Amino acid sequence: MSETQTNDAQGLSSQLPEGGFPPPEALAAAANAGPDTYERAAADRVGFWEDAARRLDWDQPWEQALDWSNPPFAKWFVGGKLNVAANCVDRHVDAGHGSQVAYHWIGEPGDTRTITYAQLKDEVCKTANALIELGVQSGDRVAIYLPMIPETIFTMLACARIGAVHMVVFGGFSPDALASRITDADAKVVVTADGGYRRGAPSGLKPNVDEALTKTDGVRSVLVVNRTGQDVEMTEGRDVWWSDLVERQSTEHTAEAFDAEHPLYIMYTSGTTAKPKGILHTSGGYLTQVSYTHWATFDLKPDTDVYWTAADVGWVTGHSYIVYGPLSNRATSVMYEGTPETPHRGRWWEIVQEYGVTILYTAPTTIRTFMKWGDDVPAGFDLSSLRLLGSVGEPINPEAWLWYHKNIGGGRCPIVDTWWQTETGGHMITPLPGVTKLVPGSAQHPFPGISAKVVDDEGNELADDSTGLLVLTEPWPSMLRTIWGDDDRYVDTYWSRFGKNVYFAGDGAKKDADGNIWLLGRVDDVMNVSGHRISTTEVESALVSHPTVAEAAVVGATDPTTGQGIVAFVILRGDAVDRGEELVKELRLHVRKEIGPIASPRQIMVVQELPKTRSGKIMRRLLRDVAENRELGDVTTLTDSSVMELISSKLPSSG
Ligand code: WTA
Repeated sequence: MSETQTNDAQGLSSQLPEGGFPPPEALAAAANAGPDTYERAAADRVGFWEDAARRLDWDQPWEQALDWSNPPFAKWFVGGKLNVAANCVDRHVDAGHGSQVAYHWIGEPGDTRTITYAQLKDEVCKTANALIELGVQSGDRVAIYLPMIPETIFTMLACARIGAVHMVVFGGFSPDALASRITDADAKVVVTADGGYRRGAPSGLKPNVDEALTKTDGVRSVLVVNRTGQDVEMTEGRDVWWSDLVERQSTEHTAEAFDAEHPLYIMYTSGTTAKPKGILHTSGGYLTQVSYTHWATFDLKPDTDVYWTAADVGWVTGHSYIVYGPLSNRATSVMYEGTPETPHRGRWWEIVQEYGVTILYTAPTTIRTFMKWGDDVPAGFDLSSLRLLGSVGEPINPEAWLWYHKNIGGGRCPIVDTWWQTETGGHMITPLPGVTKLVPGSAQHPFPGISAKVVDDEGNELADDSTGLLVLTEPWPSMLRTIWGDDDRYVDTYWSRFGKNVYFAGDGAKKDADGNIWLLGRVDDVMNVSGHRISTTEVESALVSHPTVAEAAVVGATDPTTGQGIVAFVILRGDAVDRGEELVKELRLHVRKEIGPIASPRQIMVVQELPKTRSGKIMRRLLRDVAENRELGDVTTLTDSSVMELISSKLPSSG
């Protein structure tokens, strides 16, 4: 592929200090993790994770830290016992922190709830007692289909407390998607709400559950939180209101210790086939790594920080960094129910200002949306409480990184670009804010105790300054343990390409001359144009570096001459004028200049919206369908399926 110095190519190097942005001195001096953290982990990797595990309360210590005798089936902290919920809640109350706020919850319509650790303990115990009354036992699966409300967290922790396995399905999924997950996980109970608020209006959830339950058997109870007050049908003998069942429960419940490898949750994620994969996480190792990474990557100070992961609890980011990581570290968190533009585009910044948020963690796609809305929106708020920013979910292009750094972080906040996956459970590649000189666009270094490498197609480790595939070569505590009910698929998907000891992440990566790792997107998104491998991300990044472009999505469309041709979809910034063919020409030239002629898009389309999944990922598959004049595939996971009609209508029929 064409070698590019990403920063230089984008003309951004003049904005970067030599070697990267150094950690702020005050932060480095008091940082939770310092250079010695890397040294300790390098000297004794497993011992390092044992130290991390000792940050938790164990009812019974482990006998063996790691059992890797039967790869790729790992066991961490073998023989140890703990209760995950008690580690997240009870131990803080017992230590005298009951009056500390666990969550400042903010509903989209403007209603708020403040929940202290003592109140959280009461609510979790009540919910646990309610689940027990519904017959839920240790090991049973409980489906959770709820909006971003505190009851979602009460239910997750209640499951953990009684040893039930939660399976959260994002509230935006269709009845069909919900039904297939319920069937696959064989869930006995569903916890839902009448509805939730999104973009200023209540939207129904319970009707979706009713429809889903016509397509799957085995669910015997549905517990319904009253959120919006919408009219819903209640099926006699199956459905029960939260207010009727949970509110009358006792706040007393004695947490039982479970085995370190006891299943904690299943989270479905899409794979290359139509059937989603149920990623299984277990207790001790998962909590160890999410807790430790949350503490070290975000430099979390429980007494002074106000922490905000602006993501949905229905995704792994929410599980690990809204719920388990922050609570295990006794963080005070913000949790916001709605969308960033409701009721106005400054909503997030208003929240930061009002609650004095110190750490903000979000996704590049959202950052680029804010860029599109303009600098003056955040400029209207006092963001001086912020001291650290995070990014997750996709590569962050240097342009967006610098915008985030300047316009949100006031030029003073380090940005941690965290690479990880549903499967990895917690952070795997990220800078450490008190140590790393930050290079915009690169996730930089494996977290201490993590072994990540860039290899060629045969699995040979590549020298610095080359491009290949990302692999993880040692087991880690919060790794997935299997795909629910399908050990073979687990082995095939992740552990067969390079043997049973090497985890194939599915991401392309480049290691630069300084040893920084740059994630280049999924390898299935790598295009092959005239024999050159070009990452869609690289072309997108070049397009976004043009002053008129807010967001870009690039796909490789089949081309009779070149194998694939590059097709780009771009959204213009609010203040940019669509100058038609002239602008398209200019953009094409810009990409030629940034990366080289081989990366010049065959076609560039200016669009109003891009098709995104509800977790904010661009659905390139659909764009490829458009670019190749195919009938559209499944659009059920889109936030807004009308987007595709708009895009298709722009396309000249010749393609
Ligand atoms: C991508 C989200 C570049 C990557 C936690 C990975 C990233 C997939 C980054 C997992 C990052 C996540 N830089 N790419 N900082 N973080 N990704 O399972 O392609 O929803 O394989 O987990 O997102 O997505 P998932």
